[in-house]
Amino acid sequence: MKFFIDTADLNEIRDLAATGLVDGVTTNPSLIAKNGGDFIEVIKEICGIVSGPVSAECVATDHETMLKEGLYLAKIADNIAVKVPLTVDGLKTCKALSDDGIMVNVTLCFSAAQALLAAKAGAAFISPFVGRLDDIGHDGMQLIAEVVQIYSNYEFDTEVLVASIRNPLHVIDAAKMGADVATIPPSTLKQLFKHPLTDKGLDAFLKDWASTGQTIL
Ligand code: G3P
Repeated sequence: MKFFIDTADLNEIRDLAATGLVDGVTTNPSLIAKNGGDFIEVIKEICGIVSGPVSAECVATDHETMLKEGLYLAKIADNIAVKVPLTVDGLKTCKALSDDGIMVNVTLCFSAAQALLAAKAGAAFISPFVGRLDDIGHDGMQLIAEVVQIYSNYEFDTEVLVASIRNPLHVIDAAKMGADVATIPPSTLKQLFKHPLTDKGLDAFLKDWASTGQTIL
């Protein structure tokens, strides 16, 4: 399973990339606004830090302008995945960009029907938003199970990118279901390392080691 990080914060990206666990980055207009800075420059910098796919989102809503934006964003670096919304114009743009050999991440997916359309439009990634479905009392992870099954039935190449992840359980459930990618906020990725018994065990080992009076180096 691939781990992308869902942030435009360059310090967080550098920090987590150093762990060797980051296979890509996803951004969206809200994350760009939160981080500040010039959109194109920020995306350029991220592409220099991470060699895997970096999602940069179009903001036009009509096909013609969205396609122009997508072609412009794709020129920033070879590892750009152009992000388009799951609308009629978004999927038209997805088809055109994919036919041109450009990776497309179709975002704002909330149903299996939408995910099926994105795969047929040639998306490299589909981003179902699990946390936002949970927020309105639906079962976000149930959608992931459905999409994984549908894509496997027809051997679609589109990768299931679990988005809007809010906690470590979302990541584990996504892995159990065989989702291809989880895009994880930095704070949640850091939570994955943690277990109280690891901290407790390490404290005990270090205390016992100190009592031997030895050093390794
Ligand atoms: O990048 C899209 C997605 O992960 C958004 O997450 O927490 O704003 O629903 P959230």
